[in-house]
Amino acid sequence: MVFPEYRPRRLRKNSAFRALIRETQLAAGQFIYPLFIMPGKNRREEIPSMPGVFRITVDQLAGEAKECLRLGIRSVILFGLPEKKDGVGSGAHAKNGIIQTAIRELKNKVPEILVVTDVCLCEYTDHGHCGCLINNVVDNDATLEILAKTALSHAEAGADMVAPSDMMDGRVAEIRAALDENNYASVPIMSYAVKYASAFYGPFRDAADCAPQFGDRKSYQMDPANSREALREATLDVDEGADILIVKPAVAYLDIVARLREEFDLPIAAYHVSGEYAMIKAAAEKGWIDGDKVMEETLLSIKRAGADIIITYFAKDIAKILQNR
Ligand code: PBG
Repeated sequence: MVFPEYRPRRLRKNSAFRALIRETQLAAGQFIYPLFIMPGKNRREEIPSMPGVFRITVDQLAGEAKECLRLGIRSVILFGLPEKKDGVGSGAHAKNGIIQTAIRELKNKVPEILVVTDVCLCEYTDHGHCGCLINNVVDNDATLEILAKTALSHAEAGADMVAPSDMMDGRVAEIRAALDENNYASVPIMSYAVKYASAFYGPFRDAADCAPQFGDRKSYQMDPANSREALREATLDVDEGADILIVKPAVAYLDIVARLREEFDLPIAAYHVSGEYAMIKAAAEKGWIDGDKVMEETLLSIKRAGADIIITYFAKDIAKILQNR
């Protein structure tokens, strides 16, 4: 035998060969761009720990959505900063709450954009936990009803898909039932099936003003040390009626993305979270890495691991690069 029989470099010779055999592609249509909505008029506020990401008022939404569409991004996920918070997160399901108003604005002005909503209470509770408290403990079953009400209020306002991120047990079934009973059987649930208690959410908690005022989220979000448990969590959500499974964060949990890809046939989304975004931005600002290249390599790695959908603050940046290619 002549050595070497297989020369991998033959197909790396030039960019046309490399394009020909490329296994993974990024597509703007598979990004979901997060938007933070705050009360007020005609304002945009840059989030200090997330350069390039803004809290915006409702009147700015249509412009954002149109920009997304021009870049090929078809979907956004909404997070709200309510005017008032209370112990049980009433603002989460208020008919004229910040998110409900935002959904109606988007669906009126830019109906083509797919509006996904984060269903959780932490932005709406004065204690910052993702559920309501009984004796200072987040009470699972009491929270379910509020979450279902919240998801239903989003559907009523016109949301295309709801994404529960609270990590209460049984919430997918509860939300599915509430939607079905009220004629929203066609609204899918993208569940944060596998969400870890992660320090990578730090910048988001500043952005959405939702850090827990005492304790942490470890009694409901998953232990970063566990991967078999991720399969149990995902199985539950599938059985309860989830349509898409989210793994969150993304890069530190690519093994989990790959495992879910092998075990389940539902579409899988990975959430490239605020801290993952902030680290790349910060290093790039310092001139220590090439921000655009690291961004693309990172997003590609998430796809390669098996995610169909990527929720990312980089959506517009990468879409611009893809469009200019
Ligand atoms: C709400 C929620 C969080 C994120 C998405 N939905 C914060 C948290 O769980 O503490 C984090 C997203 C990010 O860091 O980009 N529960």
